Amino acid sequence: MIRLMDVSYVRLGTLDLEGASRFAVDYLGLQVSEHRKGAVCFKSDARDHTLCYFEGNPADQAVAFEVRDKQDLDMAASELERLGHAVRGGTESEASSRHVKGFIAFRDPSGNNIELVYQPERSGRRYFGGRDAGVTGFSHVGLCSSDVARDEQFWTSVCNARVSDRIGDAPLLRIDEVHHSIALFPSDRSGIQHINHQVETGDDVMRSYYFLKERGIPITFGPGRHPSSSARFLYFRGPDAMVFEYSSGVKSIADELLYRERQFPFEPKGFCSWGAKPQISQFG
Ligand SMILES: [Fe+2]
Repeated sequence: MIRLMDVSYVRLGTLDLEGASRFAVDYLGLQVSEHRKGAVCFKSDARDHTLCYFEGNPADQAVAFEVRDKQDLDMAASELERLGHAVRGGTESEASSRHVKGFIAFRDPSGNNIELVYQPERSGRRYFGGRDAGVTGFSHVGLCSSDVARDEQFWTSVCNARVSDRIGDAPLLRIDEVHHSIALFPSDRSGIQHINHQVETGDDVMRSYYFLKERGIPITFGPGRHPSSSARFLYFRGPDAMVFEYSSGVKSIADELLYRERQFPFEPKGFCSWGAKPQISQFG
């Protein structure tokens, strides 16, 4: 069993590094943690960074999860290889650019690029965002899935994820007390379906709604409230058509023994209890 401790960062290729960086700071409200040759990294909380844009193909996207230590990383590599996943060990310079002690890279059954890291650095400095968006940290990703039942099986039996709820067949998966760190959505492509940052309050969600709308950022869903996680949310489109989400008030599942996953319909009311409807078919 591969024990995922936390979601660590996302890496996104872009053909317009300067434009993507501007969006990350001026609109998303993140803070530049590092400029490297051909890449800019951003922090959103106490971690060294949680997002990295690099010069490259926008379809080149990866999400990283933390494992406990080198031993767990090696065990994960053997288990993945045994199951037929090609595993690539990160080089020292790649690990150094990610500010982790070491990592491996592989593809999940849908072809999504996944990295497993150990000892990711904390920055030692407090996050101070590019604007007052109320961001408290990077929290979860939606992943595209060509077969959600198969991928649910991968994340819950090869890895330690548990199903918190399902919207239609799409599972919301937790790896700690947070209601979900991974959400799988049916899609005919692979890659990251959305990237979530938590904000402090529902007021921050609404403030960002007006802030982004006034500046012409396409709002794709919300403001609304998820009946599954209870979080108030706002989805909007960033560089290279990536969808970002702010949410506040995500449910915590502290009692593993008593919790049972719930089923919600795969229609707008399964995604929003206030009546918001996605403006694009962003959930498959
Ligand atoms: Fe989300």
